[in-house]
Amino acid sequence: MQPASLIAVKRDGLELSDQQIDSFIGGVTSGAIPDYQATAMLMAIFLRGMSPRETASLTAAMLHSGTRLQWPPDGRPVVDKHSTGGLGDKTSLIIAPLLAECEVLVPMLSGRGLGPTGGTLDKLEAIPGFRTNLSIHELQQQVLQLGCVITGTTHELAPADRRLYALRDVTATVPSIPLITGSIMSKKLAESPHALVLDVKYGSGAFMKTAADAALLAASLVRTGHSMNVATTALLTDMNQPLGAMCGNAVEVLEAVMVMQNHGPLDVRRLSLLLAAHVLVDCKAENSHEAAFVRCEKLLQSGAVYERFLRMVQAQHGDYRLPLKIAPASELTAARSGFLHRIHTEQLGSAVIALGGGRQQTSDTIDHSVGIEMLVRIGDQIEAGQPLVRIYSRNPDVVHQQVLDAMELSDAPLQEHLPLIHSRLTINAGQIEQLAVPDLQVPR
Ligand code: URA
Repeated sequence: MQPASLIAVKRDGLELSDQQIDSFIGGVTSGAIPDYQATAMLMAIFLRGMSPRETASLTAAMLHSGTRLQWPPDGRPVVDKHSTGGLGDKTSLIIAPLLAECEVLVPMLSGRGLGPTGGTLDKLEAIPGFRTNLSIHELQQQVLQLGCVITGTTHELAPADRRLYALRDVTATVPSIPLITGSIMSKKLAESPHALVLDVKYGSGAFMKTAADAALLAASLVRTGHSMNVATTALLTDMNQPLGAMCGNAVEVLEAVMVMQNHGPLDVRRLSLLLAAHVLVDCKAENSHEAAFVRCEKLLQSGAVYERFLRMVQAQHGDYRLPLKIAPASELTAARSGFLHRIHTEQLGSAVIALGGGRQQTSDTIDHSVGIEMLVRIGDQIEAGQPLVRIYSRNPDVVHQQVLDAMELSDAPLQEHLPLIHSRLTINAGQIEQLAVPDLQVPR
């Protein structure tokens, strides 16, 4: 079928068959379909949506546009975690070595930051020498020897996504649940995992602004994972304020290391442990979330996870003996008293970019030494003159007003508590289930 006829099927709100989707993705991958027709189809999908069957078929076609990682059948489960992105989210740095300590294999292929939330690769590149461009052979070798790797995706894995994502980025077609599902899941499934855990964020700093919208995305991701026989669970987690205190690159590595050394913010620690516990149960390395959580907590406390992190850094040529370069600190204080009512988290993320810690365009270079440290949390009572944030920059004035505007104070205390974990989504007998998450807490 000609590309124009395929586009017409979707334009008219009809379902594309598996063969039609394969033909579209085949043409995108080979270059036979030009940009103008590919973007017309993306817009038709954006406007008309896709059924679960079409979404699964799109994901499979994108996955098969490239190669897949191969693992020896030695009984070790292969697992990964993916986050839809949030400010201050440094859990990958903790979860990869933590899961490796649990004797599962973790080929974590991550991305760079574009827009207000940072990217794991940018954070790790704050460590001098750290390589994030391993070849497929190198990354497989490292996973087999060390248990984990965090590196960039390669041209051989889901190449259709590279082309489609670049087109979506410039045609306002990124926020589409089937297109996001195809993009995320084709890359994750190319790792050939047995189980996946997804951190789907909602709130002022996330793609999805409400828990209800995040649940729709999570359901699509979970359903698609299961359609490819990968045990997939999603946790819906709060992104109405940064995760932890540190937002930036080097400062986030330092905070992740603090968690691995038994300090560091409890929200980062708890979320890392819960995500790890869910994927351990899904890959059958543990029988219950409680047992998995306790096992992970003990491993963190023992220092073994930090040791494994250092070995991963060394294996990827990073020099963690050097103190990481952090820009000079200055504090911003509250102009008035009140209660911290709301944080415009995306605006804080834009402030990190304005300091040089993120990129507006893919070609921008990053200053890893800058960042923002939150000194208060939503619900806190604030006195006039109290420090609200610490800015790490030689030129902090450029973001003063933007950061202050991002923090809304009210006169009355907040009535509702913002839970870190909203719920989890999984599949039972072919049906999506949304359940409460076990109330496992990190000991203080
Ligand atoms: N992350 C991805 O990899 N793809 C999307 O479409 C959105 C977020």
